[in-house]
Amino acid sequence: MSTEESTITASTAESESKPGSDGGELAGEGSLTVTDNRTGKSYEMPITDGTVRGMDLRQVKTDEDDFGLMVYDPAYMNTASCRSSITYIDGDAGILQHRGYPIEQLCEHSSYLEVAYLLINGRLPTQSELTDWVDEITIHTFVHENVKDFMQGFRYDANPMGMLVASVGALSTFYPDANRIHDERVRAIQIIRLLAKMPTLAAFAFRHNMGQPYVYPDNDLSYAGNFLGMMYKMTELKYEPDPRLERALDVLFILHADHEQNASTSAVRSVGSTQVDPYTAVAAGVAALYGPLHGGANEAALRMLARIEKVENIPAFLEGVKAGEERLMGFGHRVYKNYDPRARIIKKYLDDVFEVRGKSPLLEIATELEKRALDDEYFTSRKLYPNVDFYSGLIYEALGLPVAMFPVMFAIGRTSGWIAQWLEMVQDSEQKIARPRQIYTGERDRDYVPISKRG
Ligand code: CMC
Repeated sequence: MSTEESTITASTAESESKPGSDGGELAGEGSLTVTDNRTGKSYEMPITDGTVRGMDLRQVKTDEDDFGLMVYDPAYMNTASCRSSITYIDGDAGILQHRGYPIEQLCEHSSYLEVAYLLINGRLPTQSELTDWVDEITIHTFVHENVKDFMQGFRYDANPMGMLVASVGALSTFYPDANRIHDERVRAIQIIRLLAKMPTLAAFAFRHNMGQPYVYPDNDLSYAGNFLGMMYKMTELKYEPDPRLERALDVLFILHADHEQNASTSAVRSVGSTQVDPYTAVAAGVAALYGPLHGGANEAALRMLARIEKVENIPAFLEGVKAGEERLMGFGHRVYKNYDPRARIIKKYLDDVFEVRGKSPLLEIATELEKRALDDEYFTSRKLYPNVDFYSGLIYEALGLPVAMFPVMFAIGRTSGWIAQWLEMVQDSEQKIARPRQIYTGERDRDYVPISKRG
């Protein structure tokens, strides 16, 4: 070790508890001793919840003028940006829980709007609370007539995610008091409006693409049923959704409801930390979800299955993946190193959807592809398992959705999680405007050169 390097040791012994940097007693978890080999000085920092505070490192200085040590962590690979009690994930064990309830139980017994209530309020509602919640959301599904004109302004083939980013953000112009984010009652009505209007905006975007008239919400229908109606109703006086499709869609919304600090949620928190209104913060979430590395993988998985074309082509395709020519889309996850519990649940609903819509020829390819990959040392040794995107595209396709709508479906479900995370952030006294540091690598102290003298 060079003398420029520093040493870090951790202690967990209770007896070694000493005052932390804030002067308080260290938690029973112990402390971290850092020795700065540049100066020979040692510093002790409390370990709380398996973390040390980045700001505690600032005391590590070479002299009084030194700014102090910072943490360099591109892409936040090892940085906890908040304390949260909304969603728990154990990626090694393949566990996903919302407010402590396993995703499997929520998908079996709950509805999307009940899960939204749970995420946002921290507990399951009583029957009367749920009835009021669903009623409130149902009567707010209509959007201002001007939204239709706004939508009409897009080109006929505009991507529906681009339309959603713009139209969710535009809602803030209809509700200017939404920027009073510290008023609990004002916040509550915006939360209802966001949950209620998101499917309406999404369906309008779809109908615009199809060149079809927009369909107004039907307050007699469920959240998922109303969405199907706004998407597919034509000349019939009353749209009646098939209960199997309605339930499958509701479960898909539950499965996408929240996934702790992913890229789009971090975008909502970051933009929301400026104290902007929630419509604008959620528009930032939709924008982040638009990217192919986040909300677009379901589309890529479906295209891949179509390209494989038939089961006989699977071995050659997998050889290509193993040779590094491409990735098996819908497989692998940054957090899950086990079967993604969401993929397991989606599989159960495929049969219901295919029973109504007819079986997709791609299902056989997907099933065989999964089986072969899970039998293959390349995938097992790297802990690559199907993720939520492996099968969700098959359901969306069976529902008659173009691939450009797949991330929009993700956004509808994720809205409840974005809101819950935004609400937690605005009420967290430790949070401030999100503002990372940088390591400056550019030039300094140059004198301006007139344009006539530049080479
Ligand atoms: N197919 C083939 N090999 C893979 C795959 C895959 N889908 N995913 C990872 N690997 C290999 C990778 O080549 C590497 O191998 P090696 O150690 O020999 O270099 C090893 O597994 C580790 O991969 P990594 O890229 O370091 O893992 P990561 O955590 O950075 O990437 C991931 C996670 C999801 C981006 C990646 O698994 C992937 O690209 N999967 C396909 C895209 C996909 O399905 N994305 C949806 C994610 S779930 C939806 C969401 O939450 O947004």
